[in-house]
Amino acid sequence: MHLKAFAKKSTRSTTLAAAITLVAGSLLTSAANLWAATPITVKFAHVVAENTPKGKAALRFQELMHERLGDKVKVEVYPNSQLFGDDKVLEAMLLGDVQIAAPSLSKFQKYTKQLQIFDLPFLFKDMAAVDRFQQGPVGQKLLTSLERKGLMGLGYIHNGMKHLSAYDPIRVPADAAGKKFRIQTSDVLAAQFEAVDAVPLKKPFSEVFTLLQTRAIDGTENPWTNIYSKKFFEVQPYITETNHGLLDYMVVTSARFWKKLPDEVRTEMKKAMDEAIAYGNQVAREQEEKDRQLIIDSGVTQVISIGEQERALWVEAMRPVWKEFEKEIGADVIQAALDANQP
Ligand code: SIN
Repeated sequence: MHLKAFAKKSTRSTTLAAAITLVAGSLLTSAANLWAATPITVKFAHVVAENTPKGKAALRFQELMHERLGDKVKVEVYPNSQLFGDDKVLEAMLLGDVQIAAPSLSKFQKYTKQLQIFDLPFLFKDMAAVDRFQQGPVGQKLLTSLERKGLMGLGYIHNGMKHLSAYDPIRVPADAAGKKFRIQTSDVLAAQFEAVDAVPLKKPFSEVFTLLQTRAIDGTENPWTNIYSKKFFEVQPYITETNHGLLDYMVVTSARFWKKLPDEVRTEMKKAMDEAIAYGNQVAREQEEKDRQLIIDSGVTQVISIGEQERALWVEAMRPVWKEFEKEIGADVIQAALDANQP
């Protein structure tokens, strides 16, 4: 090409490139301005009271996000099933009607069978063992078990070990036979009650108090903070301290929502969530004992402790449930949970 013509063409393409850079730059700036100008709304829905480990973790998350991102992100927390019950919240999340939830680990069976591990009776020795399992490689992998369904696990929040409450004193499995117990939507929990010849009824958390008060059911299972904050103890004269199972949570969000967030928002949100979870777990450790004592001090319900022999009867009756669900959960996952019992 002639030198003059080349110089002219090259000036034209430099001008074109500059123009493209300018347009792209201004598009990016206006996208950034757009998200800065339009706050991102994050609805966090849960079913428990605000004065519980999960309730407090949700509020801490809201606080941290406000501190760090100001008005760019608006976190709205809906406790006490105000927005959705746990039976609807995950569907609502996939539709974009709620962005964060933390259902009990017993409520995911429609989405994955693997999380059923957390419902196996008498599996974890104590909450320290639960923590080791959740933070270990298998527990962390389980956070991804919902990905095929479009959901992502962001972490685990503790509540605590469950106890049986009822209208009659329950000490040994035979005392539970024939009684109706409200359970969460979990086949493992159904099998656990069937193993002692009791009648399990899957009902939403928001209905439990009324079901107990009207004696439509005889009893239920929950950790101390739920029994106290939802006043179940006021309509249950007996609570047997069985520590027979776990009630913990997985914080979840929709993969679609998460991926669409601007990078800096996603990073801050994950950091804030990790801190809120750590705070919630500390609350769980402290509040469990406090709420237990408040229930005892109320004098309206009697807390029954069981001895080693009685405990052995419960274990013997309920342990066969492990075998029943081993295939769905995975023998290796069960083994990893058992290994976590050794510090
Ligand atoms: C919860 O703690 O989130 C509710 C548990 C239940 O449904 O019993």
